Amino acid sequence: MDKGDFFMRHFFNVHDIGDLNKALEEAQAIKNNRFGFQQLGKNKTLLMIFFNNSLRTRLSTQKAAMNLGMNVIVLDVNAGAWKLETERGVIMNGDRSEHLLEAIPVMASYCDIIAVRSFAGLTDRTYDYAETVVNQFVKYSGRPVVAMETATVHPLQAFADLITIAEYRQSARPKVVLTWAPHCRALPQAVPNSFAQWMNAADADFVITHPEGYELEPSFTGNARIEYDQKKALQGADFVYAKNWSCPGVRNAADYGKILSEDMSWTIDTEHMSWTNNGYFMHCLPVRRGLIVTDDVIEGDHSLVIPEAANREISAEVVLKKILETL
Ligand code: CP
Repeated sequence: MDKGDFFMRHFFNVHDIGDLNKALEEAQAIKNNRFGFQQLGKNKTLLMIFFNNSLRTRLSTQKAAMNLGMNVIVLDVNAGAWKLETERGVIMNGDRSEHLLEAIPVMASYCDIIAVRSFAGLTDRTYDYAETVVNQFVKYSGRPVVAMETATVHPLQAFADLITIAEYRQSARPKVVLTWAPHCRALPQAVPNSFAQWMNAADADFVITHPEGYELEPSFTGNARIEYDQKKALQGADFVYAKNWSCPGVRNAADYGKILSEDMSWTIDTEHMSWTNNGYFMHCLPVRRGLIVTDDVIEGDHSLVIPEAANREISAEVVLKKILETL
């Protein structure tokens, strides 16, 4: 077994994947030969645990594991399992019958890798940004843990987005703009956090645009340029990555998780795209049409939403393969 020069244990951040260019090369190699590593996963089991809903992550990660010859168990915590308590020190006299501290080692005993989806509650910034739930899986499972969107990160999505940008870029260093767009519900910051972190690590002219007050956590945005004027930000963009997020509470912790703006002038329509360098439209999906993006743009020939989603299979397969190589 050639483990290469990088040892992947868990997958949460861009640093967990090692050299990004090598990871992108590996993604293309896997895309050309996605069933070529079935021996790696033989008699190995992936347990996928969902505390929240999913379409793409569930299907693409399961498909990736099957490509690698793995067995897959999927657990929807809220549909058929005992309701789980996640806090220590509580008297469990409510509707939560089982504690995560017993459930985690039990679940770990049935698998080799655990993948977890557990969204932000958006009420307590400290709790969410400490990754309180998934860190218990890291601490108590003894298994490699893969983030399938946690309170603050969605790295399988960001990696798929980067694979897609690498496939469609016309220049070595494209201009990539992450733009906030309006939404009717308060959404987590996991997708924009990870997208910012991965774009900072990639070779891109990366700009973030949003209304004032929506500043993302600086540990993810790094030195990315922040431009509050959306039109200025979009000018010359090769890729427009639209996403809503609720207030990250960076300026004012009391605003964490709130909707501060419903300004529909931020919705991406054909006029917005006309300001770009004949740019591509991107979104992680699911997307609410009419709020984030208009029908014309998402259905247009420069919409990459379907290739992005398809690349989720590839990003998951690269990650699972790298972990399997260490087992
Ligand atoms: N993009 C994404 O993670 O989609 P799902 O929520 O459907 O998994």
